[in-house]
Amino acid sequence: MTHIRYIFLISLLIRADGAKRSSELSRLLIISLDGFRHEYLNQYEFPILNQFRNEGVQATQGMKPTFTTMTFPNHISIATGMYQEDHGIVHNSFFDRLLNRTIGMGNRDDGQWSDPNVEPIWITATKQNIKSAVLFWPACHNKFHGIRPLIYSWSYTDDIPFREKIDNAIGYFRELPVQLVLLYHFEPDKQGHTYGPDSIEVHDTLVRLDGDIGYLLDRVQKDLGDDLNIIILSDHGMTNVTKVTRPFYEKYLNRSSVDSNILSGALFNVMPNSGNTEEVFNSLSKIPNVTVYKRDEMPERFHYSKPKHRLGELTALTDTEGHILSPATTNAAYPNKGNHGWDNAVKSMQAIFMARGPLFSKSIQIDSLNNVDIYHIACHILKINPNPYANAGSLANLTSLFARIENTSTQTTFTSSNTTTARLTTELFFTTKSRAHCLCFSRHFLIALMFFVLSFTL
Ligand SMILES: *[C@@H]1O[C@H](CO)[C@@H](O)[C@H](O)[C@H]1NC(C)=O
Ligand SMILES: *[C@@H]1O[C@H](CO)[C@@H](O)[C@H](O)[C@H]1NC(C)=O
Ligand SMILES: *[C@@H]1O[C@H](CO)[C@@H](O)[C@H](O)[C@H]1NC(C)=O
Ligand SMILES: *[C@@H]1O[C@H](CO)[C@@H](O)[C@H](O)[C@H]1NC(C)=O
Ligand SMILES: *[C@@H]1O[C@H](CO)[C@@H](O)[C@H](O)[C@H]1NC(C)=O
Ligand SMILES: *[C@@H]1O[C@H](CO)[C@@H](O)[C@H](O)[C@H]1NC(C)=O
Ligand SMILES: *[C@@H]1O[C@H](CO)[C@@H](O)[C@H](O)[C@H]1NC(C)=O
Ligand SMILES: [Zn+2]
Repeated sequence: MTHIRYIFLISLLIRADGAKRSSELSRLLIISLDGFRHEYLNQYEFPILNQFRNEGVQATQGMKPTFTTMTFPNHISIATGMYQEDHGIVHNSFFDRLLNRTIGMGNRDDGQWSDPNVEPIWITATKQNIKSAVLFWPACHNKFHGIRPLIYSWSYTDDIPFREKIDNAIGYFRELPVQLVLLYHFEPDKQGHTYGPDSIEVHDTLVRLDGDIGYLLDRVQKDLGDDLNIIILSDHGMTNVTKVTRPFYEKYLNRSSVDSNILSGALFNVMPNSGNTEEVFNSLSKIPNVTVYKRDEMPERFHYSKPKHRLGELTALTDTEGHILSPATTNAAYPNKGNHGWDNAVKSMQAIFMARGPLFSKSIQIDSLNNVDIYHIACHILKINPNPYANAGSLANLTSLFARIENTSTQTTFTSSNTTTARLTTELFFTTKSRAHCLCFSRHFLIALMFFVLSFTL
């Protein structure tokens, strides 16, 4: 092996359970392309992605992220169907006052997932005997309620080419009784930050990703007989950084007035030291082009105020996208040409959504959806019961996404506003397409296990 491969853990003993595998079992691959803003789809030509979304389901206005439009929080919203104030991941890195530690994407089992109501789709699936593989998705290497998915990345790296991740995903579907794979890739976010959203570097990266999706679709056809439901999405958009304000350096605020743990970027969230709330509020309010909110005044639509151990009492929001609030105490150059994090309703922050496969409708357009709906789409495809606390999203406006069975005598319709009820009709709702090939697990399983053991290169 020429470079470090993924380091996988097989967290459970897989039972080579051939009987479980029947033609009724649906399979779902969710791919997240970090920072793929919806507008890119209109800006550039994408031979593969355009064909993919024209044949399947597409959201013409994109997918709405949760606020704040950052990577870690939104991947957890997608995975759990919850707002940030409910799943508790409020930024890419934040201080937890109860745990007395900073939590970021790299933390593993440090107590940050102790809330029993928070459950990613791969845990919901695992609990209901659906096997999952989760590659590089934030938090995939954490235990939830003592459970991990069957396969997950032990630690994060940018070094694995997208096509290698695709090969692995296809391998799990082909060789293992895996029904759900989530796959994260860090582009085009990285180029977007470094060179800006309208750069040639972003364009070139998008063209490469389009080709990689072509490679995926070829493999899905050859190795899986096209019997795979695929969702391609992103976490947030990207916009030009147009202005940088440094409240400490520019004397709007004293370090000594606030707790040292600050959330910064598109928003600025601080915990004033005892008795300083009014003073800090007034100081921040003097910054041009920002609006300052006390916790209980945060606009409801952001769903960004509840966790008192993770969010400070005051949040400054910039009035326009592109304006950064930096914690710097010097006038150092700001490193990024592009960024995200702003209002989740603005156009440049919208993410992509497209889906295709046996259980999705053909050639359907919807305007938009919320990324907290993805959890319910996944439960519906996998025919599993959603976590009752995952109530930020629903399938209420998304019934057109799913293919209806051809035989109208057994057809059931969704009730318009009740996810729980909608889910119970699932069994009757789908056409089951017979598999192009039969998988024999006992033999393949041993080969696969040997492969995984060989991949343990530290
Ligand atoms: C929090 O952790 C720091 C060091 O990480 C330690 O100095 C401090 O005493 C801890 N505070 C509490 C309340 O445990
Ligand atoms: C971002 O900046 C580039 C370079 O200055 C400019 O060409 C482009 O129009 C800007 N994009 C937006 C959305 O403002
Ligand atoms: C910061 O502290 C200095 C010295 O205590 C004080 O003169 C100044 O007014 C303070 N600035 C703000 C914005 O609170
Ligand atoms: C920023 O604030 C200044 C001063 O209040 C105002 O003149 C300007 O129009 C504002 N700019 C934007 C982009 O809102
Ligand atoms: C469904 O769409 C309607 C009309 O756009 C909207 O009023 C309603 O809030 C949506 N429901 C959900 C659960 O998103
Ligand atoms: C539809 O289903 C009914 C009952 O299951 C069956 O009798 C009928 O032949 C089916 N029709 C078609 C077109 O498959
Ligand atoms: C959905 O259905 C469940 C179970 O029947 C019921 O308890 C709940 O109140 C319903 N919710 C809505 C919004 O109708
Ligand atoms: Zn991101």
